[in-house]
Amino acid sequence: MNLSGSTVVITGAGSGIGLATAELVARRGARVVLTDRSADAVRPHAERIAELTGAETGFRALDVTDGAAVENVMGSVGTIDHLFTCASGSVIAPFDELTEAQVRQFFEVKWWGQYRCLRAALPHMPKDTGSVTLVSGYLYRKVDPGYFAFAAVNGAVEAAVKSLAMELAPLRVNAIAPGPTDTHAHLMNPDEHRAYRDEIAGRLPVGRPGTAEEVAHAAAYLMENPFTTGTTLDVDGGKR
Ligand SMILES: NC(=O)c1ccc[n+]([C@@H]2O[C@H](COP(=O)([O-])OP(=O)(O)OC[C@H]3O[C@@H](n4cnc5c(N)ncnc54)[C@H](OP(=O)(O)O)[C@@H]3O)[C@@H](O)[C@H]2O)c1
Repeated sequence: MNLSGSTVVITGAGSGIGLATAELVARRGARVVLTDRSADAVRPHAERIAELTGAETGFRALDVTDGAAVENVMGSVGTIDHLFTCASGSVIAPFDELTEAQVRQFFEVKWWGQYRCLRAALPHMPKDTGSVTLVSGYLYRKVDPGYFAFAAVNGAVEAAVKSLAMELAPLRVNAIAPGPTDTHAHLMNPDEHRAYRDEIAGRLPVGRPGTAEEVAHAAAYLMENPFTTGTTLDVDGGKR
């Protein structure tokens, strides 16, 4: 199966892995709809990708914590061949320093956001040819201190895909589990960024963090391969 002529909806597409995937699937001939918290976060990218690839692109403001907005947006696209749910916040602190409100807010975006988007997209997806790619992350099976909330959400996502792949078949449902991926350089000064890369380099067999484009490549594989369902694909530079 190739993506030509299909429609791909991506949440959290204003940056990082979601954005890189939007560009890649557009290059492969898909119509891509980029969504993120504000229209301003995705409009320029949708325009640039359309210009670059000649593909039809769309964009929507979509805060995945807003159930009514999720329903409206998923219902406004037409047929959704492939859904990729990248929207996420971040919460990093030792367990006993995190408040319940912080953990709940993290779950509200990364867990309930993915749940809501799938529920709302489902009636618009072709079951026999469609796919859903949820996002987990290495921090469930390959833990690091300070990332309890990531471990918990990622574990839930990975458990859910196995069940959903059976229940929603023939719709395919997979998850992708990125390893440390260099998507936040814009939030660091050059020294911090260098220290981040050096730290990751020492811990990964590939000797560097991943790129958003490398994870996007795996996301496109999960959309395209009709014999892959119920799996979590590690794209993690060999993280153990
Ligand atoms: N990068 C890594 O090392 C890594 C490793 C393992 C797993 N992952 C997972 O991969 C996914 C993508 O990560 P990334 O590195 O590409 O991060 P990213 O660049 O921060 O992308 C996440 C996007 O989601 C948006 N977002 C946040 N809250 C939202 C909401 N309520 N509704 C809609 N969009 C919202 C963010 O917008 P704002 O910028 O406005 O917040 C951002 O554009 C996440 O699930 C992450 O946990 C990443």
